Amino acid sequence: MLVTNDDELGEVRDAALVIEDGVVVAVERAGAQGDERIDAGGRCVIPGFVDSHTHLVFAGDRSEEFAARMAGAPYGAGGIRVTTEATRAASDDELMRLTRARREEARRAGITHLEIKSGYGLDVETERRLCEVAGQFTDDVTFLGAHVVPAEYEGCADDYVELVCGEMLAACAPRSRWIDVFCEEGAFDADQSAAVLHAGAIAGLGLRVHGNQLGDGPGVQLAVEMGAASVDHCTYLSDADIEALAGSDTVATFLPATDFSTRQPYPDARRAIDAGVEVAIATNCNPGSSYTTSMAFCIALAVRDMRMTAQEALRAATLGGARALRRDDVGHLAPGARADAVILDAPSYTHLVYRPGVPLVAQTITG
Ligand code: NIG
Repeated sequence: MLVTNDDELGEVRDAALVIEDGVVVAVERAGAQGDERIDAGGRCVIPGFVDSHTHLVFAGDRSEEFAARMAGAPYGAGGIRVTTEATRAASDDELMRLTRARREEARRAGITHLEIKSGYGLDVETERRLCEVAGQFTDDVTFLGAHVVPAEYEGCADDYVELVCGEMLAACAPRSRWIDVFCEEGAFDADQSAAVLHAGAIAGLGLRVHGNQLGDGPGVQLAVEMGAASVDHCTYLSDADIEALAGSDTVATFLPATDFSTRQPYPDARRAIDAGVEVAIATNCNPGSSYTTSMAFCIALAVRDMRMTAQEALRAATLGGARALRRDDVGHLAPGARADAVILDAPSYTHLVYRPGVPLVAQTITG
């Protein structure tokens, strides 16, 4: 079975995907001739996963924090400072090595395109370095200087916001496509978040928001009002949030591995989808709240715990991610798209949920 994401899911049986110079040129009947052939042998072929939310560039380890959480400690934004300390101390070479290893791990798990955020530097020079490292792996780099207020600005959040909107943005904007802000209690409030997004927009960056992760909050409404491409987490959605999202171009990106790793409730994706909200699923790979590159795991959680069908979850992890990044070259396999595909060691994508934890990605094809 071939899934193209053309027309709903675009499931085609006995298909051949014809690729030229890294681009899909046709979907034909099995048996089509070509210079080179890959025989999928009756297995399911899907578009490569598009991971629209990752924090791949960091140093250090927070497994003890995770273990404490599993023993009952709550999750808080403060752990970001721990990673910031380790990341500031790491050399460029070390950050490149760590990020390359994580990127390769993600590729093996079927992720053919991803976004990478900065956000563990929180000073001008380190944020610039993180954006530069991220740019070696993707053209979807997101400047996240407004991740939390660093220790040296404790009690002076507005001064830090001024730095983010001024010198730090000037250093990072040329290396980024997006700006993001963590709009949440313990991070940045609605006014501070709006200031960051406004400055980013003036610098020519597209907007993204971390919002409604740890409780109800202004993140979703702010994202919609400011025309953000995506608001991510959305674990807590009020009726007004859903209504705002449904009438907007802002994608609601769910990060279920985060809710798993922080013992948060899972968002009710069904409610959002039924109201007409465009949704995506991403891994949120980061050292604190979601250290996984497995989109298959996220899909399984979305189906098991967020009331999505396997079809909806696959679409959200491919085309949904592409929409959250406002791209039309990835996330589908119709003619003209980048030839990014995954051969699953399974006859159908339902096995991604049916066989949780089993590495079903047999081959990742990039371009
Ligand atoms: O998306 N929410 C904010 N940022 C990350 C968490 C980062 C961390 O705990 O290190 C997230 O979950």
